[in-house]
Amino acid sequence: MTQHLAVSDAEIRHAAALLRAGKLVAFPTETVYGLGANALDADAVARIFAVKGRPPSSPIIVHVSSMGMVRQVVSEWPERAEALAQSFWPGPLTLVLRKQPAVPNLVTAGLNTVGVRMPSHPVALALIKEADLPVAAPSANRFTQLSPTTAEHVRRSLGSQVDYILDGGRCAVGIESTVLSLTSEESMLLRPGGISRQQIEAIIGRVVQQAETPQQAHPSPGMHPRHYSPRTRLLLVRSGEVLTSGAGAYLQLRNPPMWKVEELIQMPDRPEDYAAQIYRVLHRLDALNLDWIAADAPPTTADWEAVLDRLRRASSE
Ligand code: TXA
Ligand code: MG
Repeated sequence: MTQHLAVSDAEIRHAAALLRAGKLVAFPTETVYGLGANALDADAVARIFAVKGRPPSSPIIVHVSSMGMVRQVVSEWPERAEALAQSFWPGPLTLVLRKQPAVPNLVTAGLNTVGVRMPSHPVALALIKEADLPVAAPSANRFTQLSPTTAEHVRRSLGSQVDYILDGGRCAVGIESTVLSLTSEESMLLRPGGISRQQIEAIIGRVVQQAETPQQAHPSPGMHPRHYSPRTRLLLVRSGEVLTSGAGAYLQLRNPPMWKVEELIQMPDRPEDYAAQIYRVLHRLDALNLDWIAADAPPTTADWEAVLDRLRRASSE
């Protein structure tokens, strides 16, 4: 793969040594860039929360590079987990399972469960393997802002507050991992993402949707309404709707805009390709200080679930 050619072994060793010393390292994954720390070091994890401005009520995903490391962090491994790991790991699927006592409460926001995933990006895997530690890593952006899909996005959002940034180029998947809870009989989708619900159901059968009421406590903060947001107002529009005032950009899918736009961006019509571009496009448009960004609403079919979720949250619709 060309993805990891930009990162040398020496850089991986340096970054791994920093993680072992309790420092913060931003690194590429196939989904988005992560802000990593030693998952077993509560002080290091505390710095993640400080740098991101993240409330302590948000649990952090633990990244592993081997099944041995999985056993260090989870205390149960149901057959469903094994089947899904066989099918989708390494890859963009996070499994929520009961945690080992060694995982600090700060990582899991006091929950007795932990989200764990084995990323497929070669730089991420090499880093975790070299550090020989499970790595806690949320997306490497300030809380509620757009997730970073390039090292430059990380620099702009967190800059010098990170001890080191590994630049592995653009993230191929482009949106975050799917988060699936396996802690009860029913498998529960907490956040749609890089692996679709249909792909998961093909392996383990029915997956239920987490009930979503804005007032209730959020078992998964990825479900916070205003998450993944650009600073610029984002609108999801359906054909025929017209915006009259201000300057804006339009993400076209099928319907052409009904009004004058400063920037017209044709988005891909395959959901995976759309996902791969969405954050990069929004980062670029957000920097233009427009009055609005409008997005042609994607279909409500199952294959668009993750993209639609991110657009809805970004527009706080
Ligand atoms: O693709 C990704 O998942 C990226 C890369 C860096 O791996 N990470 C990411 O992390 O998106 P973050 O912190 O931005 O989102 C983590 C999501 C949140 O929705 C959180 O609530 C959920 O995972 N999560 C983590 N641990 C959980 C747990 N024990 N129970 C329920 N949800 C959990
Ligand atoms: Mg995030």
